[in-house]
Amino acid sequence: MKATVLQSMNQQINAELYSSYLYLSMAAWANSKGYKGIANWLQIQSKEEYAHAMKFYAYVEERNHTPELFAIEKPESSWNGIVHMFEQVYAHEQKITALINNLYTLSLKEEEHATSSFLKWFIDEQVEEEATVCAIIDEIKLAGEVGPGMYMIDKELAQRVFVDPTTTAE
Ligand code: FEO
Repeated sequence: MKATVLQSMNQQINAELYSSYLYLSMAAWANSKGYKGIANWLQIQSKEEYAHAMKFYAYVEERNHTPELFAIEKPESSWNGIVHMFEQVYAHEQKITALINNLYTLSLKEEEHATSSFLKWFIDEQVEEEATVCAIIDEIKLAGEVGPGMYMIDKELAQRVFVDPTTTAE
């Protein structure tokens, strides 16, 4: 891989690990506020982000390079309510989408065809990630942050189980 692409891939490993850390911090906060189902959803989201990081890591190794790990930034630890927190999830996913798009553009510019092909999985994954979070925000806004509607949403999000997205259909 060209040095510029390798550097960006290593940075993306870090960005995905930070995402995992951020959602784990959100899970801890949600749990402390009594939203057990939302905390479950976020813990699983955190695992998904770790799986994303490892997909980049494995690809770097497959291309005969050694992944370089950077320091992971400390995430925030409190939010002004559940809607605010999910809006931050959405904003964060938009940032990740932009990073992946930039990486894809770089791979095209550097004529790194294998890397462009590899990144397509992430381009599709980001569409799903953003849509899922948007749907949750809409539901919570309809239900309100407290009361029976929110109780039902929390129960629904408690049902989520971890399925490694990187091992399902490419
Ligand atoms: Fe790894 Fe949610 O993007």
